[in-house]
Amino acid sequence: MSNASYPITEETIGQVTHFENAPQWIYEVDNPYLHGVYAPTVDEMAVDELEVTGELPEGIYGAYYRNGPNTIHKPTGLHHPFDGDGMVHAVYFQDGKASYRNSYIHTAGYLLEKEEGRAMWPGVMGTFDFSLPEFPIKDTCNTDVTWYAGKLMPTWYHAGRPHKMDPLSLENLGEYSLPGRTRTNMSAHNHVDWNTGEMLFMDYGDEAPFMTYGVANADGTLRSEVPIELPGPRRPHDLGFTTNYTILHDLPLFHDANLLRRHGKMVLDFHRDIPARFGIIPRYGDSADIRWFECEPCFVLHISNSWEEGDWIVMDGCRSANPLRQPEGGGELAHMLVYMRNETNNYRWRFNLKTGEVREGDIDDLNTEFNKSNQMFHGVKTQYAYHQHIPLLHENGHTLRFNGLVKYNNETGQYDKWDYGDGVFGSEAAFAPVKGATRDSDEDDGYVITMVTDSNTWKSEALVFDARDITLGPIARVKLPQRVPAGFHATWARGEDLYT
Ligand SMILES: [Fe+2]
Repeated sequence: MSNASYPITEETIGQVTHFENAPQWIYEVDNPYLHGVYAPTVDEMAVDELEVTGELPEGIYGAYYRNGPNTIHKPTGLHHPFDGDGMVHAVYFQDGKASYRNSYIHTAGYLLEKEEGRAMWPGVMGTFDFSLPEFPIKDTCNTDVTWYAGKLMPTWYHAGRPHKMDPLSLENLGEYSLPGRTRTNMSAHNHVDWNTGEMLFMDYGDEAPFMTYGVANADGTLRSEVPIELPGPRRPHDLGFTTNYTILHDLPLFHDANLLRRHGKMVLDFHRDIPARFGIIPRYGDSADIRWFECEPCFVLHISNSWEEGDWIVMDGCRSANPLRQPEGGGELAHMLVYMRNETNNYRWRFNLKTGEVREGDIDDLNTEFNKSNQMFHGVKTQYAYHQHIPLLHENGHTLRFNGLVKYNNETGQYDKWDYGDGVFGSEAAFAPVKGATRDSDEDDGYVITMVTDSNTWKSEALVFDARDITLGPIARVKLPQRVPAGFHATWARGEDLYT
């Protein structure tokens, strides 16, 4: 059975390969995001003392976590990558050795569908069914993952319910509800300030005030949460923060909530006549303290870092000037396919708190995203960001794939690049500061870690780069015990927090 007229061919995703550790129904579904490097891996395992090519320095001390979709049951309708059951893959580093563990995230949807043995919810492409228990579409918690207050916290793109996992065993500990908080949902891309241990987060939805912004204390309790009034329902994705301020996003890519209620379909529109707005609020500020800055219309997925420079707030991230391009084929999957074909570039915004002036512009034009920087320096000035290079359509970029690691110097716009190799695709990287690093250390004193899968052999590895010079290639390759499909976000937990 096919649910779309989109050909799964060597040109679009590579050879369709039959995997024993994938659910066999995928071969009945004509959707590129269920095949090749996206084919779900349903096995869960823990393996110690992984084989390493090269050498793991003692300075790599902590764990790399990556979240992503691993769909279990055959979808009832159209399948989008945000619909796949969330799974965390982890690689632990200590004493020059590495181990691997992976686990599904036990969301309400995962547990109920496991009991029933079938898919029970529609996915994000609808139709949203508001009569279903729990939620109108499946909340998979498959997008982001954060280490916060001693626990791992996976979250979902559509501001779903965050979950809690033991960071060492990956044991599921239920939904993550902050004591004192009345709301249950939280967006992906909450941020932990390693300098204070606090977590900054937001939630958004279709009911006024359409956004809330909160700060959680280092001990896992709520400090504050305030309503942020937006002109209507929005789909923001990330936030920026400095030592004293948080930067919230109100972007002109959104849907009509009345249409969603009436027809059960979320149709995103890019409103080219509406400016992008960034709201700067003191970290512990109240709703009235927010100050909005208007910028050129755009959509923004991910922020690399933000900081204060005198009266200025500087925010680096990847920006899309044209997030909804015209689909060219793909049948019912057309809009999803074109939306997932990320076209973005490295960009800098500057906001003057005294005069209200805005300055913005490209840092570079390379097609990159899934940008990360050294979390030790989040909130204060940084130079470097580590992006994934994304092939454009004419470069065989029919689907979202990462074929190289890019280290940017955002001061100069210069970059170094490491190509993963023909048919080898990576994951979002995480920056691992060298063991014992502080803010007095060099910003790039540490390692950049990613997971890759080679579609020539279907073997997966964790690659470890010396962050000072990624052009040397990986200093260590850690062989993973199973194929790891492409996914979304990754994070690093420091051994100092994890093992002591
Ligand atoms: Fe994201």
